[in-house]
Amino acid sequence: MSQEKGKARTDAIDDLNRRQFFVKLGLGSLSIAAAGTTVFAYQFLAPNVLFEPSPVINAGKPESYPLDSVTLDVNSGIYIIHAQEGFFSLSAVCTHLGCVTAWKPELGMVVCPCHGSKFRQNGEKIEGPAPKPLPWKHMWISDDGDLMVDRSTDVRPMQFVRV
Ligand code: FES
Repeated sequence: MSQEKGKARTDAIDDLNRRQFFVKLGLGSLSIAAAGTTVFAYQFLAPNVLFEPSPVINAGKPESYPLDSVTLDVNSGIYIIHAQEGFFSLSAVCTHLGCVTAWKPELGMVVCPCHGSKFRQNGEKIEGPAPKPLPWKHMWISDDGDLMVDRSTDVRPMQFVRV
């Protein structure tokens, strides 16, 4: 009789352990599902923004550019040119396939190293596969007297900045 009581008690404990196990398993599954939902909800709600550097470049003081000089700023992909008529800025990115061009003082022209397009100092195309001239970029003098260039804004050629 007491053996039957003992077996019934063991069965009850096993039953309880099994129940506890399934309750914990269920809670664990729910926790994992909740965590996954939270992560996806955060990714869905977080703004999908690409942070890019400002297109506006401070090119420094005009005095640092000698007359008749062409200065390439490799980091920003622009030329600062000090011509007789004033200052202007050209994109240094070739209009063919986007290579960064180089100023060749011995030739007096801008040359693309990729496929050989050539441009005059004012951006006009001389020869090569480039379909368009190098665009002029918006340039102005800041309140502090620095040359500023907005790489994102093209302007018509021959708009010189006079200091
Ligand atoms: S990328 Fe300049 S000529 Fe092709």
